[in-house]
Amino acid sequence: MLIKTPKSSDLKESEVTPENVYLNRRDLLKSLGFLGAGALLANSASANAIDWFSQEEKVKFKTTSLKYQADANSNNLSLTPESKVTTHNNFYEFGAQKQQPAELSQSFKVNPWQLTISGECDKPITLDYDDLTTMFALEERIYRLRCVEAWSMNIPWIGFSLADLLKKVSPNSSAKYVFFETLHDPVQMPGQANRRLGGGIAYPYVEGLRIDEAMNPLTLMSVGLYGKTLPPQNGAPIRLVVPWKYGFKSIKSIVSIKLVSEQPQTTWHKLAANEYGFYANVNPEHDHPRWSQASERHITSGGLFSRNRINTLPFNGYGEQVAHLYKGMDLRKYY
Ligand code: MTE
Repeated sequence: MLIKTPKSSDLKESEVTPENVYLNRRDLLKSLGFLGAGALLANSASANAIDWFSQEEKVKFKTTSLKYQADANSNNLSLTPESKVTTHNNFYEFGAQKQQPAELSQSFKVNPWQLTISGECDKPITLDYDDLTTMFALEERIYRLRCVEAWSMNIPWIGFSLADLLKKVSPNSSAKYVFFETLHDPVQMPGQANRRLGGGIAYPYVEGLRIDEAMNPLTLMSVGLYGKTLPPQNGAPIRLVVPWKYGFKSIKSIVSIKLVSEQPQTTWHKLAANEYGFYANVNPEHDHPRWSQASERHITSGGLFSRNRINTLPFNGYGEQVAHLYKGMDLRKYY
């Protein structure tokens, strides 16, 4: 599979992670395991953080390696510190300010949880909370997340390919697109109850991919980051990560995945179609109507607002793996 055969142009984990952390984690990876979620039952996402790197071995991760190509423009490719990944968030259900999701989501209940995969398929299924971390072999993947707001982070995700999940339900020939929905629960998600706090979005948050994008091996269902289950502000218990697209495609806290025949409506496209397209592929040559997409502020270990501006790469640096999906398409028109 493409993602397991890094090319010489790919960065190695040792090149992006501070060395002491890297060596430490290599040892941990050898005995890497996962204690069944049932043994650590708690209701809220924060109380339920399972640290995969320190538990008894049950599920082996596959080897880790960076999946994006070397970025000649960047002078700092280290992992974005966990403290920033978990405090600088976009999760409008918990407030439209960057710090609000971490502040307002800590009692969010993720167990019990149900994720239904249905629509144009022969074997629809519903997964429960434990299934999310036990049904598929988990992998660690370090991806760059590029937000449409022109900032980026390097994040070590844990998860499995969406393709593995979709194959389980046997999509039929009418399955042309995949439609995702976030939980709708205004009692738990204050931004859904208060229009101002929630940024004026019509909830639930919804997203979509074309079926071939969804089946691409890079497309990840993430259940963790930095060796632990996802914190609520990052989309617990399960979210999408599509590394070659702007971050708003990477929908959080998913309860429904539906195979459909028509291109689905998506949240940001509904709000402002001229600013946010269905495709949303990272494209330095197609500016947002109100700002340039040619470069980005890469968030690293400096102060949260320290400037580390790097040039943005087409498809966020994953062009070799995904450019073929858009052959012949005018990417300025299909932005
Ligand atoms: N999913 C939901 N349900 N609600 C949101 O507001 N924000 C999106 C995406 N997924 C969002 C969402 C945006 S704009 C970005 S950039 C990423 O989540 C941010 O992910 P992070 O907070 O883990 O960095």
